[in-house]
Amino acid sequence: MRITDHTGTAIGASVEDFDHTSASENDIAALKETVYRHKIAVLKGQRLSPQTFLELGRRLGRPETYYEPMYQHPEVSEVFVSSNVPENGKQVGVPKTGKFWHADYQFMPDPFGITLIYPQVIPAKNRGTYFIDMGAAYERLPDDLKGEIEGTRCLHSVRKYFKVRPHDVYRPLSEIIQEVEEKTPAVRQPTVFTHPMTGEKVLYLSEGFTVGIENEDGKPLDEELLQRLFEATGQLDRDFAHENIHLQSFEQGDLLVWDNRSLIHCARHTTTPEPTVSFRVTVHDERKLHAGLEAA
Ligand SMILES: [Fe+2]
Repeated sequence: MRITDHTGTAIGASVEDFDHTSASENDIAALKETVYRHKIAVLKGQRLSPQTFLELGRRLGRPETYYEPMYQHPEVSEVFVSSNVPENGKQVGVPKTGKFWHADYQFMPDPFGITLIYPQVIPAKNRGTYFIDMGAAYERLPDDLKGEIEGTRCLHSVRKYFKVRPHDVYRPLSEIIQEVEEKTPAVRQPTVFTHPMTGEKVLYLSEGFTVGIENEDGKPLDEELLQRLFEATGQLDRDFAHENIHLQSFEQGDLLVWDNRSLIHCARHTTTPEPTVSFRVTVHDERKLHAGLEAA
């Protein structure tokens, strides 16, 4: 196994000759350290089936199966499928996922630490995924804004981007919304927490999933504060030109492993849709999202 930092960018490292079937515990620890420190590790030259992709994921942690079955791979339910390419005339997984800033499972009570994406069908033109390092973004916030959010908590919900399922057709929208609120009520997390693996401070919010902010006493604060945070971190830049935004490209055989605590990401928008398929496995590592959840 050979790890090379990506020069010229603040994010990313390449990992060559990684074989999950023969990697030692030391290799796994070094890979995870790379993910936490460099935020994205690109495993090169991977040739995996959905089952062996899951097995690779298991080397890094405990897999979390996506809660909505329509996203699951028909044979390996732990594999989440994003696809706009029908198989034998049938939709597999869900098309156009994640085209908004978010951290995976941010709207759930116990988000996992690591996301693995294994692109299958790669667009010829608009490939890659946008990322923002919310640890670095927090560091760059003006001091007065840092002061304003001290002790606050944010509310995260899937409600803005919940995708209706095939069986929702003919259901009243109000009933679907009620079900979403009951099954996945908004969760509260500290606006800033300490990354348990690196000790850095992370600003934990996203334009896609963060729907409110409140003070230490639980009193809701003006929505305008959230907007200023989205703006300051680069999430409202429709051209993706903000200095905080990193475009991570990939090629066939690449497998991206990233730090889901400190990175938020956004699938690349394309005006003319190209065939795109990717598999995702998500895993819990040794620690919870932040120390505040350990006792819970
Ligand atoms: Fe995502």
